[in-house]
Amino acid sequence: MIQIAVLGYGTVGSGVVEVINTNHSSINKKAGEEINIKYVLDLRDFPGDPIQEKIVHDFNIILNDPEIKIVVEVMGGVEPAYTFTKQALLAGKSVCTSNKELVARHGAELLEIARERNLNYLFEASCGGGIPIIRPLNSSLTADEIDEITGILNGTTNYILTEMEQKGSDFAEVLKKAQELGYAERNPEADVEGYDACRKIAILSSLAFGRQVDFEDIYTEGISKITATDIKYAKAMDKSIKLLAVSRKVGESFYAMVSPVLLGPSDPLYSVNGVFNAIFVHGNVLGDAMFYGSGAGKLPTASAVVSDVVDEARHLHRSVMSFWSSQKLQLTDISNSQRRFFVRVKGTPEQSLANIEEIFGTVQPVVLPELEGEFGFITEVISEAEYKAKAERLGSVISMIRLRREDD
Ligand code: HSE
Repeated sequence: MIQIAVLGYGTVGSGVVEVINTNHSSINKKAGEEINIKYVLDLRDFPGDPIQEKIVHDFNIILNDPEIKIVVEVMGGVEPAYTFTKQALLAGKSVCTSNKELVARHGAELLEIARERNLNYLFEASCGGGIPIIRPLNSSLTADEIDEITGILNGTTNYILTEMEQKGSDFAEVLKKAQELGYAERNPEADVEGYDACRKIAILSSLAFGRQVDFEDIYTEGISKITATDIKYAKAMDKSIKLLAVSRKVGESFYAMVSPVLLGPSDPLYSVNGVFNAIFVHGNVLGDAMFYGSGAGKLPTASAVVSDVVDEARHLHRSVMSFWSSQKLQLTDISNSQRRFFVRVKGTPEQSLANIEEIFGTVQPVVLPELEGEFGFITEVISEAEYKAKAERLGSVISMIRLRREDD
């Protein structure tokens, strides 16, 4: 029997207990041994809940119990999760987690500690909820040099954008629903301002490129400025707005960014709706691959965590995870990256188009008949720096959304 401890009995922690109870016999078969939850660490008590008999309030009980071989850290946040994880690894216990903040900040160090001790530090649930993406990057796509990862990595924002698009729902109302459904972070600013997607693309990039990508270096824009009018324009252009996290190797340079992007129907990410996530990966020999599935929520996330428990149970004394160097990967500024831009401006095409084309060159106007005093246009492919300079020169810009592909 393999004894495990779960740190945190919140949404994901209670999901882990539920998954292990529901699929007990098949999980044990796959792990090769019976998995038993011996302790659940939480500050709270749960009177009347059968979990209460496993609840402990002191992490040292878990740390000092030699029977505990695997620690499941689903507390979230950097502290005390970092200290507990490090102590558990140093005490010879493997750890698995859904904690993207911790993996993004200290992943390199924790992986190194685990590797030196023939233990595992696994984090499948940190990116893409229930979608297997860490394991494929670690053990399936090993023949490739990965040069692009582009993902819809945040279920909450994808759910909000989809509801706004399909039902015309109000932003605040949909966010509340996402919180009730257990998709959103405790502080939903992390979802709507793109910070959660930013940490996830930092983890995937570090793993794919083998060096530490600091999330603070990634240009990040969220969806809080996207309005019902933007959605109307997107529909008029037969496009959809998604929050994309992008990481690319261009020549010898790397860049990464998170921002709302307009996608056309031919884009594989166009039909990824609701709480679903998808991760598009391009490898130099593989070409394209896409991973799609449930991106947030109690049970999908718990499914990924428990898959790590099974993997760790199977490899109690052998490290299976590749690691990335703590040496920082220098990202280039996004100002040279090139794309088309959809721009909303004040005025009418009759008044302003000549001036716009003098500054931007040929553009495609987009007019919504029901809107007075404004219209939109799509630029040719230009760099971020060029867009910024031209938009400043024009002066009448209301807002801008990037397009994903040159032919969109
Ligand atoms: N708040 C996150 C999301 C949870 O909405 O994707 C899963 O990491």
